[in-house]
Amino acid sequence: MKNVVVIGANGAIGSAFVSSYVNDSNIENIFSLGRAEIKHSSNKIKHFIADITDESAIANFACSLDFRLDEVIIATGILHADGINPEKSIRDIDVKTFSEVLRINTIGPAIIGKHLLPLLNNQSKSVMAFLSARVGSISDNKLGGWYAYRASKSALNQVIKNFSIEIGRRNKHAIVIGFQPGTVDSNLSKPFQKNVNKDKLFTPEFSVEKMEQVIKNLTFEDSGNIFDWSGDIINP
Ligand SMILES: NC(=O)c1ccc[n+]([C@@H]2O[C@H](COP(=O)([O-])OP(=O)(O)OC[C@H]3O[C@@H](n4cnc5c(N)ncnc54)[C@H](OP(=O)(O)O)[C@@H]3O)[C@@H](O)[C@H]2O)c1
Repeated sequence: MKNVVVIGANGAIGSAFVSSYVNDSNIENIFSLGRAEIKHSSNKIKHFIADITDESAIANFACSLDFRLDEVIIATGILHADGINPEKSIRDIDVKTFSEVLRINTIGPAIIGKHLLPLLNNQSKSVMAFLSARVGSISDNKLGGWYAYRASKSALNQVIKNFSIEIGRRNKHAIVIGFQPGTVDSNLSKPFQKNVNKDKLFTPEFSVEKMEQVIKNLTFEDSGNIFDWSGDIINP
């Protein structure tokens, strides 16, 4: 039986991961973390309330996990918020926005890795998967714009690679990857869905089902890579 963690459990993708784990008979314990109470109800779930950039709260969360972890999903992130919009032009670059996006999309996940990577199962396959984004790929950047979000995801991808190298030295069962989930219907994507074809806009459930398939097929050699929802590697 497996123990899993979902960070960002109230987001569209995080919540779909929790639902999928609730219905999976191989999962015994689901440790979820969000900034508010969780909507799901299941006796498998133990929910914690914390901000991912509050390191002492994350350290306390990690200390309370007295199980080896088999899957950890980090599904937090921002693209827009009150007073924050992705930059369309050089003119829009702003210190406060840039710092906040990096704080949530890069530094928060790095803090999660710092405290939870040592808890990954070292007796059988374990996976830590960070929700990244295709726009974090520098070689794939054809459109420009979205300076802070793109930079935060490129930096996250570098953190993922570093984690895979360091943890891989002492835990040969631990796999650390990033995911591009597709364009998924969520609060994060809502303002940018106008130009997306209906068949290209995934439900969170569909995206999660595909990512679970990718996780199932991962081997240790895959660690450090960024995968899209279909299992293709996204180049840095
Ligand atoms: N949707 C897409 O099309 C798409 C495409 C590419 C990549 N992604 C990536 O997928 C991930 C999940 O996005 P989503 O579409 O599921 O968006 P979402 O529904 O807006 O979920 C984002 C989650 O992040 C949480 N969060 C933000 N700041 C936080 C903080 N400081 N501490 C704790 N939690 C925090 C939010 O918590 P609250 O519920 O408390 O606000 C929310 O649960 C993101 O990393 C995003 O960049 C999404």
